[in-house]
Amino acid sequence: MISLVDLTAQYHAIKNEIDAAVSSTLESGHFILGPQVTKFEESVAAHLGVKHAIGLASGTDALVIALRALNIGAGDEVIIPAYTFFATAGTVMSVGAKPVFVDVDPQTYQIDVSKIKPAITPRTKAIIPVHLYGHPSEMNPILEIAREHGLKVIEDNAQGYGAEYLGRKTGALGDIGCLSFFPTKNLGAYGDGGMVLTNDPALAERMRMLRTHGWKKKYYSEEVGYNSRLDALQAAILQAKFPHVDAWNEKRRQLARRYTEHLAPLGVATPMECEWAKHVYHLYIVRSKKRDELQAFLKQKGIASEVYYPIPPHLAEPCRKFGYKEGDFPHAEQAARETLALPLYPELTLEQQDEVIAAVKEFVG
Ligand SMILES: Cc1ncc(COP(=O)(O)O)c(C=O)c1O
Repeated sequence: MISLVDLTAQYHAIKNEIDAAVSSTLESGHFILGPQVTKFEESVAAHLGVKHAIGLASGTDALVIALRALNIGAGDEVIIPAYTFFATAGTVMSVGAKPVFVDVDPQTYQIDVSKIKPAITPRTKAIIPVHLYGHPSEMNPILEIAREHGLKVIEDNAQGYGAEYLGRKTGALGDIGCLSFFPTKNLGAYGDGGMVLTNDPALAERMRMLRTHGWKKKYYSEEVGYNSRLDALQAAILQAKFPHVDAWNEKRRQLARRYTEHLAPLGVATPMECEWAKHVYHLYIVRSKKRDELQAFLKQKGIASEVYYPIPPHLAEPCRKFGYKEGDFPHAEQAARETLALPLYPELTLEQQDEVIAAVKEFVG
């Protein structure tokens, strides 16, 4: 059986480091925020090139807190790609604002920059590019449109830890960057975790307050906030993994290149990496008109694969009230019908990868 991602393989590879981090945290008696969280926040800020990094309970909370810090709420609109994990849309809705979808580029699956301007209205407050699958969105034109129209940019970098746009790390390019440390992410915890990134000290202070009940001073709430703190155990685990993340991303890139070398000549639609991009292959996505048959065939061979995502958010139940319909965003809808993630993680062996390649080859015929 070849799984889509094998988290135990990574644990066994660095077991001593993880076990030491866990036991020293248990011995420290400090479990919420504290020195482990501060240390990890500093590591990420330095690595990605931002002044402030604030550890939170999840990537979903990161988006909510980013939106709240920018005062986005009822009556506001936020432009997001029509193909993403539902959290991007759901968090906009959870603060009372309306997600306004824009179709994606069919090659990169990133928000189609040429379609952003027509979606702007007097109510638009922000754009959330999503660096989906680990490929960066085209940030300079997005930032330029935002500047022109007085909009904020929140990067949903949940899937793009370590990705680069023109040599600069994603998550550090907009007003606020959001990270998820969900266990399967390129830098993943052993539980939930997230982070917001910014260079703006005022936004950083506001997000720190929102993380803990709107407190600047303990127990003195200045606004309604959340309990959304990265816990010390997860921070210690993430800090133990942190020195490996660049090498893991490089491994993902090598494996992705190898998949593409073998699959592209078969006529399989393989992922694209733009010349201005460093793709970190959170997911290796192929596309096929016979996607469901391919998935069933792989399953029968003992190979896992997964559809990310079967429903584009504009067609999801909670968005019904906005009146979107099938056909509104053809590239997003086609991606939902045709894309499939193949097994890819740094510890995947070449023998396992050869098995996957052979199975796809057999299916293609
Ligand atoms: C694009 C995207 N945005 C947001 C999230 C939410 O992150 P989390 O699961 O940590 O809440 C995820 C991940 O799961 C994601 O893939």
